[in-house]
Amino acid sequence: MPLPIAELHLHIEGTLEPELAFELAARNGVKLRYADTEELRKAYLFDDLQSFLNLYYELMAVLRTERDFEDLADAYLARAAAQGVRHAEIFFDPQAHIARGVAMGTVVEGLSRALGRSVDRHGVSTQLIMCFLRDEPAESAMATLEAARPYLDRITGIGLDSAEVGHPPAKFREVYEAAARLGLRRVAHAGEEGPPEYITEALDVLGVERIDHGLRCMEDEALVERLVRERVPLTLCPLSNVRLRTVDVLADHPLPAMLDAGLLCTVNSDDPAYFGGYAGDNYDAVRSALGLSEERLRELARNSFLASFLEHDEELRARCLAEVEAYEFG
Ligand code: ADE
Ligand code: ZN
Repeated sequence: MPLPIAELHLHIEGTLEPELAFELAARNGVKLRYADTEELRKAYLFDDLQSFLNLYYELMAVLRTERDFEDLADAYLARAAAQGVRHAEIFFDPQAHIARGVAMGTVVEGLSRALGRSVDRHGVSTQLIMCFLRDEPAESAMATLEAARPYLDRITGIGLDSAEVGHPPAKFREVYEAAARLGLRRVAHAGEEGPPEYITEALDVLGVERIDHGLRCMEDEALVERLVRERVPLTLCPLSNVRLRTVDVLADHPLPAMLDAGLLCTVNSDDPAYFGGYAGDNYDAVRSALGLSEERLRELARNSFLASFLEHDEELRARCLAEVEAYEFG
C-alpha cells in the first residue's frame, strides 16, 4: 500500500498522456503534427519552462467537449489513486481553452463530472483551483474571473501559472483582491524560474496562502527565515524541476536542504504526463536520488495534508494524518 498523500500542485492539462491525446484527436477530428505516440514522446525534451509550455498549449487542441475534460480528469484520478493520492487540489487553465473557443462551462462541467464521483470511484477527494495565465494581460484574468462566477460553487481558489519571468505577481493585484472578496483561496507559482522577489511579492501583494514551486527562495536567507516563521507551504515538483532544467539532476535537488531549513515542503507532480511521473513517482524518485529517510517522507506526506485546503473536511484531514503517522514503509 502506498504512502497516503495529498497532491497540491497538478495541472489537469498536464496529465494528458500521448495515448489519450491521440484518442481525443481522433474523436474530435483534430490533426496533430506527430505521426504517433512514439514520435510525440520524442518531443518531450525540454530546455526550459517555455519550451514545455509550447507543447502543453499545442496539445490542448484535442480537448474540446465536456466528455474530453471528464475523461482527462478520470484518467488522472485513477492513476493518482493507485499512487496513494487521497486528496487532490487540481489546477486548470481556462484562458487556454476559452482562447480556442471552448467555453468555461464546458471545462468546469466536464471536470466536475469526473470530480463529483471521484470519492466513490477512486477514493480521492478533490478541489478545483482556477489558474490565470501570467503572460496574458491582467484584464483577461479579470474577465476570466467574471466568466467563472456561475461556477464558483465548484472552484475553491485561484492560482497563477505559465511563463514566469517578466510577469511579476503584482500585475495581478486587482484580480487577487477581487477573488479574495469572493471568498476564494489564493496560491501562485513563484520562484520556479523567477527570482525570490516574486515569492515575496506573491505573499505581500497577492496575499497567497501557498507558493507553488518556490524553489528559488533558497537564494535569499531572510526569505527562507520568513517562510519558515510564517509556515508558508511550498508545493515542490522535483521531476518537473529536472525536466525543465531548473535543477541539473535530481541528486542536486535542494529538497533536503529545504527540509533541514525547516520549510514546509510538499512533493507534487506538476504535469506528470510530460515530466515522467505522478505524485507517488516523485516521492519514489526523491527517496532514491536524495536518500531521504522514512521520517522525511512521512514529514512530506504530513505536510501535504497540513497544507491542503481541507478546512471543509477536517475529519478527512485527521484520518489521512493518522494514516500517515501509522504508515509502515516497505
Ligand atoms: N503550467 C503548467 N505547468 C506549469 C509550470 N510548471 N510552471 C508554470 N506554468 C505551468
Ligand atoms: Zn505548475
